[in-house]
Amino acid sequence: MKIKYFDLIDQSFDWPQEEFQLSDGKLAFHGIPMMDLVEEFGTPLRITYLPKIGQNIARAMGWFREAAAKTQFEGDYHYCYVTKSNHFHHVTKEVLSHGALIETSSAYDLDIVSHLVKSGDMQQDARVICNGFKTDAYMSRILELRDQGLSGLTPILDNLDEWKRLSANSTKPMDIGIRIATEEEPKFAFYTSRLGLGYNRIMPLYKESIKDHPHLTLRMLHFFVNTGIRDTAYYWNELNKALDLYVAMRQICPTLTALNIGGGLPTKNSLAFDYDYAYMFEAILEQVAMRCNAAGVPHPDIFTEFGSFTVGESGATLFKVLHQKRQNDRERWNMIDSSFMTTLPDSWAVNHRFLMLPLNRWMDPYERVFLGGLTCDSDDYYNSEQHLNAIYLPTFKENDPIYLGFFHTGAYQDNIGGHGGVHHCLMPGLRHILIDDTEEGGFECREFCPAQPSEQVLSLLGYAAPAAQTEPS
Ligand SMILES: Cc1ncc(COP(=O)(O)O)c(C=O)c1O
Repeated sequence: MKIKYFDLIDQSFDWPQEEFQLSDGKLAFHGIPMMDLVEEFGTPLRITYLPKIGQNIARAMGWFREAAAKTQFEGDYHYCYVTKSNHFHHVTKEVLSHGALIETSSAYDLDIVSHLVKSGDMQQDARVICNGFKTDAYMSRILELRDQGLSGLTPILDNLDEWKRLSANSTKPMDIGIRIATEEEPKFAFYTSRLGLGYNRIMPLYKESIKDHPHLTLRMLHFFVNTGIRDTAYYWNELNKALDLYVAMRQICPTLTALNIGGGLPTKNSLAFDYDYAYMFEAILEQVAMRCNAAGVPHPDIFTEFGSFTVGESGATLFKVLHQKRQNDRERWNMIDSSFMTTLPDSWAVNHRFLMLPLNRWMDPYERVFLGGLTCDSDDYYNSEQHLNAIYLPTFKENDPIYLGFFHTGAYQDNIGGHGGVHHCLMPGLRHILIDDTEEGGFECREFCPAQPSEQVLSLLGYAAPAAQTEPS
């Protein structure tokens, strides 16, 4: 009878998979035995496997090259990384070393850019896409850095007020872009995205103001569909509307040479994940080439801004099951040694499902469970997989604990949950380990940060260290 956890996975999915292997009932991720990490560093633990970042950038560049050859596409490809998905220096450094550009979203993001230029990780004239709503602080940083010689800064206009402030205050030549406000999918609560300018405002803005500006040059149209790059009628419809505008604008604006198709390339969130990346690249380039050929305009350079795809698959978050609570005959709660709300906030806020697997005991029988987090919030739980409305794990045993891995958690979780700081029920921030490959074919680990100490949390809350007690005289 097939009752082992291994049988469940082996019968349900292709197994083993590229990044997961099994040895002696224990899981390895990119060849790294996860239980060795648990033994060395303990749980809860955040890990970042740095080589995956460069591998994904190279994969996307490869898909573009193949697609361009097949569709006779003549534009270049520029891979940008949107820092908001993971701001850590070890990530931006890795991204830049693989030939990607940076996209920013706020004023402080530009301080990161400035730091990267000073540290020599980034060229002074590298293109930097400045997206997002421009507060006065964000706009001033753009102008200041441009004055200091960062000639590749490319602000993307989100609204007309930004144009007024930028055009009135810029003193040096600068490329700019305009974000097109897309129509949202019918299931959304609103029709048009709040981000960007409506289609019918863009052409008049160019003709009436941008065209004759002494320093600012329209270089890029930007569009980003919130729901991501998917093979759906909605996506193709939005892309085609953007292409209509691109070709119409290109006919009157010779400097408009770039089309930015945003982020939204999906990441593997289940063992059953099935997404044909090469096909999507080809289908997009085919559409762009066809529309440009028909209108007699040159093919644009394509920019993408992949956040999740760049960094998501490099991350994993490891927990131990501390205890099993049985609340009735059917519901078994495996309590993890941290919180879902604070460490994987997307699982709670937007019901995002990550790829979850046990790290040990694969040859043991399994049972259906719910996973509970340690905060006293009833929403702090995890109870389904991407492909299944349930969770199965090796049976709980008090004296042989199960360890769990949530994989591909590298994008947004730290930024939304907050690194450092004060968390719900004072859950401490996780110990974080960076892993790199070695030249000998092994791997090496270094600690990025320890588990957050209580003193740090208390000090943030205003509990200054008590003064040393003195004896009354
Ligand atoms: C303008 C822009 N570009 C890129 C991204 C990255 O999206 P993803 O992480 O899905 O690739 C976002 C995400 O919100 C965005 O707002």
